[in-house]
Amino acid sequence: MGAALITGASAGLGAEFARQLAGRGLDLVLVARRTDKLSEVKLQIESEHPSVSITLISADLSDPSSPEAIAMQVKEAGIQLHYLVNNAGASGPVLLQDSDWQAHQSYLILMMTSITELCHRLMPDMIAAGYGRVVNVASVAGRIASGGDNHYGPSKAYVIALSEALALTVKGRGVNVSALCPGFTHTDFHATAGMESIKNTTPSWLWYGAEEVVREGIDGVERGKAIVVSGRLYRWLDPLMQSVWTRWIFKGQGMPQPSQD
Ligand SMILES: NC(=O)c1ccc[n+]([C@@H]2O[C@H](COP(=O)([O-])OP(=O)(O)OC[C@H]3O[C@@H](n4cnc5c(N)ncnc54)[C@H](OP(=O)(O)O)[C@@H]3O)[C@@H](O)[C@H]2O)c1
Repeated sequence: MGAALITGASAGLGAEFARQLAGRGLDLVLVARRTDKLSEVKLQIESEHPSVSITLISADLSDPSSPEAIAMQVKEAGIQLHYLVNNAGASGPVLLQDSDWQAHQSYLILMMTSITELCHRLMPDMIAAGYGRVVNVASVAGRIASGGDNHYGPSKAYVIALSEALALTVKGRGVNVSALCPGFTHTDFHATAGMESIKNTTPSWLWYGAEEVVREGIDGVERGKAIVVSGRLYRWLDPLMQSVWTRWIFKGQGMPQPSQD
């Protein structure tokens, strides 16, 4: 059995991908910035799956040199990848409000360039071996434009388009590529973004667990689906969001007005 490289594996969906893929007998290469959190995930998985070999790579994927350094480390260790899960991501700056362009640029590198470069550097070996699975974690936010957004929705739309194009490019060569599109999911994502209150202001039936989202993501890429919308509710809403007749219902409210205080 080969290995799975998972970015953003120190928490949330990435840590869950690590648990589920270890359960399938894959060795793991876990990437994130926080090595203490990565070590906790490693210890927990080793206690359940002692035969799984786990390599940790500390990397900031908003640094443009990270994907090349990660790919070199994988090649030098002679690790054969069967799975690539581009999962690392976060909420980011707001385009027309936050004036520090460097922050925008770093965010775009994390959300789009790093994913593209890891596919570019790691997929050719999968194609040569005739086997590979690539899951790029996008979002239902990438399925429709909304006003008042930061780069989050547009960057996820890119990840979906990239995944569809790659899936077509490698069709019939043993490599499946999927964009996994979750809706609201219980992870650290909203707390990290300072948006904990969203859980109290949105109905609980909009929220799914990481276990279910990841299980559906793995099932979807195994079945060769280019776009995997997770969660029954979001699968039901998705065709409506793609319809020209109903898209206006889902449009956002535009840029928030400046505070009157
Ligand atoms: N939760 C949701 O409702 C939801 C919905 C749709 C899509 N998603 C997507 O799901 C993916 C995983 O998010 P999550 O919900 O699991 O959030 P999370 O619990 O906050 O985990 C985010 C992961 O990304 C890593 N990360 C963030 N910035 C990074 C950077 N600059 N370099 C390297 N790693 C970085 C974090 O690790 P370190 O901080 O240790 O670096 C962490 O492991 C994201 O792409 C997100 O956009 C989430």
